[in-house]
Amino acid sequence: MDTKIINSVEIASDEITKGNVVGLPTETVYGLGADALNEDAVLKIYETKKRPDFNPLIVHVSCIDDFEKYASYIPADVYKLPDFFSPGPITFILKKKSLIPDIVTAGLDTVAIRIPSHELFKYVLKLSKKPIAAPSANMFGRISPTTADDVLKELKGKIHYILDGGKSTVGIESTVLSFADGRITILRHGYITKEDVEKVVGRTVYDYDEKESEGKIVSPGLLKSHYAPMTPLYLAEHTFDLKRLIDELDDEKIEGLTKDSIGIMDFSVYDSFRDVSKNLFSDLRMLDERNYKMLFASKVKNLKLGRAINDRLEKASVGTIKNEGKKIVFRNK
Ligand code: TXA
Ligand code: MG
Repeated sequence: MDTKIINSVEIASDEITKGNVVGLPTETVYGLGADALNEDAVLKIYETKKRPDFNPLIVHVSCIDDFEKYASYIPADVYKLPDFFSPGPITFILKKKSLIPDIVTAGLDTVAIRIPSHELFKYVLKLSKKPIAAPSANMFGRISPTTADDVLKELKGKIHYILDGGKSTVGIESTVLSFADGRITILRHGYITKEDVEKVVGRTVYDYDEKESEGKIVSPGLLKSHYAPMTPLYLAEHTFDLKRLIDELDDEKIEGLTKDSIGIMDFSVYDSFRDVSKNLFSDLRMLDERNYKMLFASKVKNLKLGRAINDRLEKASVGTIKNEGKKIVFRNK
């Protein structure tokens, strides 16, 4: 199959109405879209990216009125939040109506809904008049794509078209919020932070805590490994661990590694967390494409948007580097 990068929203929308999958730009990352109400089309999403069938998809819609079409109950806070953040990088987990096929939600009784802000995605929603199910347009477990070219690298020969909408401005996936048990829980950190949500709803927003929800499938997509480059990525807790590692390479103290054989994600070139977030996956992909033996990064401050950045880095990494006394230690996960 020939895969083409296109600029036509009409062709992209036709693909959706025909029951095909298509690469679509969103403000967060590129998505692999299909008609959410067409089971065969949704099945193609899972097949194309080899996604396990227990991992549910996000349904993208045009406006808050559409929530009522697909969700059977909408808590009051859900009406407040879109005023501030939608269209935008925020996803709401709500009790689903039976209209949404089980394949979309991997059999759960909830559905994830989001209103994307990318102009071209909005246009495709308008033209196709369909809710669009779309996971990130990467092969399962790999780095999320933030340009049409990235999608081509991931899915060449597997889909017909990729709509080019430029580089995604947010760069990491949407914040996912659950409203189960009368409280708001962040299932996936993203661009909209816990603090942003708390300000609007005026109450505590909880972090998803694996231990607390042990045994229950809260968000099946919260796998420990994700966003993975081919080259092993080691993550330092602090930048000084990374600096120490580089010094030791200079002194040829670390066997098998030289300065030229490693790639370093250098966030100091960016002025803000927003810039780090925008470039996180594209930098990782770029380093992965060079023939390095290992990649290194250090966590950022675990505050606000920093939480989402650290979450992606942790999942992309194979382990940590630590400064232990006189030695630098590599530890696999
Ligand atoms: O920014 C985004 O959200 C991007 C763009 C394309 O919109 N999409 C995206 O989709 O990141 P995906 O499939 O890569 O991630 C969806 C996440 C997964 O962690 C999944 O488990 C969770 O949302 N999710 C979907 N439906 C859910 C549900 N009913 N309950 C709990 N978690 C759900
Ligand atoms: Mg994904």
